[in-house]
Parts: sequence; structure tokens; C-alpha cells
Amino acid sequence: MASNYNNSAWFYDGLSRLVYGRALINAQVYLLQFVPANSSVLIVGGGTGWILEELTKIHPSGLSLTYVEIAADMMARSMRRNTGLNSVAFINNAIENVAINEEFDVVITPFLFDNFTEATAQKVFNYIHQLLKPGAIWLNADFQLTGKWWQSVLLKSMFLFFRMLCKIEASQLPDVERLFILGGFKVLEGNCFYGDFVVARVYEIEL
Ligand SMILES: C[S@@+](CC[C@H](N)C(=O)[O-])C[C@H]1O[C@@H](n2cnc3c(N)ncnc32)[C@H](O)[C@@H]1O
Repeated sequence: MASNYNNSAWFYDGLSRLVYGRALINAQVYLLQFVPANSSVLIVGGGTGWILEELTKIHPSGLSLTYVEIAADMMARSMRRNTGLNSVAFINNAIENVAINEEFDVVITPFLFDNFTEATAQKVFNYIHQLLKPGAIWLNADFQLTGKWWQSVLLKSMFLFFRMLCKIEASQLPDVERLFILGGFKVLEGNCFYGDFVVARVYEIEL
């Protein structure tokens, strides 16, 4: 069952700021420093697209961006973003249903996997994995549980809310760390935000 964030496009960023302050933004902006100049970048599940403007502040030109977002209303907002002199291909579809004949230097998955069951997460992970060039980096931001009671309360509330409103399929976090390990990736850099409820990591294939 595909999620549908259309309903939430108009308030998603506001709600995120209300609950998390700048934590979800900071986690993603932290990752953007690792994007090399003149690279090809795949962004999956970018939401309203503010990440495009943050990336453009760092690289006003030279990037070749492919932006895949399943929700039409999120995509409409993303297409209005300032992307400077970077080239952007916008694809309004589920990543796993898109035929892409290109390989990328960088992929960014910001709070994408938390929408998925283990099975979908595995499928999406494998699909993205085969789109990477040798030596590519994968920038992933997501929630994680580190044993604090308030994290499970917040997570359960989020799943309940987005299951009802956006029909997301997940009711618990998939084990994304396991997918990266089984996929042969190693962590190059990382940082935690909002206590350590949010984790942002830079992965590279272990050669
Ligand atoms: C939790 S939101 C995060 C949005 C944004 N990254 C942010 O942090 O503000 C997940 C986003 O992924 C999109 N999405 C979910 N499944 C997708 C898929 N299979 N392919 C592409 N986008 C997807 C949703 O429409 C939504 O915009």
C-alpha cells in the first residue's frame, strides 16, 4: 500500500517545526555538506522540497539532481523551489516504480524508510542500491530508538497520526541499519539530533 502525503503537504513542515524545532532540518543540512561539487544526486522522498534550496545554498550550480517524490502535492511545492543553476529532473512516482537509466554519485533518503514495513524497506533499499556508482555515498536521516521512554511514545503517536491521515504502511521502524550492513556499506560519518532520536549518517560501500 503506497502512502499518500498529499493530505499533509500544506502543514507538514509546520507540524515538523512545532514538534521537533529545527532538528529534522538540521539532520538533513548536516548531511548536505558531504555532497561533492558537480556530482549527480538522487533525492528520494524530499517532501515539500526545502532540501533543494538548502543544497542550492551550498552548490548554486554544477549539480545534476534527480528528485523522486510520490505525493503530487509535495512535488508541486518542490517544483517551485529555487534550485539555482543546478539541473533538476522531477519524477512524481514511487522510487521503486521508476525506470532510471542513470547511476548516481550521491543518494539522499531523508525520513523515507520510516514509512515502510521491513519488506518494502528492503525492496526500496535494493532498488536504490543498484542506482549507485562505485564509490558513491548514501546520506540517510531517520528516527531511531535508543531506549528512552519518550522516544517510543513520540514514535507511536507519529505512526498513528500518519497511518490515519496518509495511509503509511509502517507501525514500527524498519531495521534500516541492518539493510546497510547486509548491503556492504560502512558508516563514514554521522551525527545525532533531538537527544539521539534522530540519526543522520553518511554511508559508503565497503570496497
Ligand atoms: C516522512 S516524509 C519526509 C519528507 C521530507 N524528507 C522531510 O524531512 O521534510 C516522507 C516523504 O517520502 C515520500 N515517499 C514515501 N514513499 C515514497 C516512495 N516509495 N518513493 C518516493 N517518495 C516516497 C512521501 O510522499 C513524503 O513526502
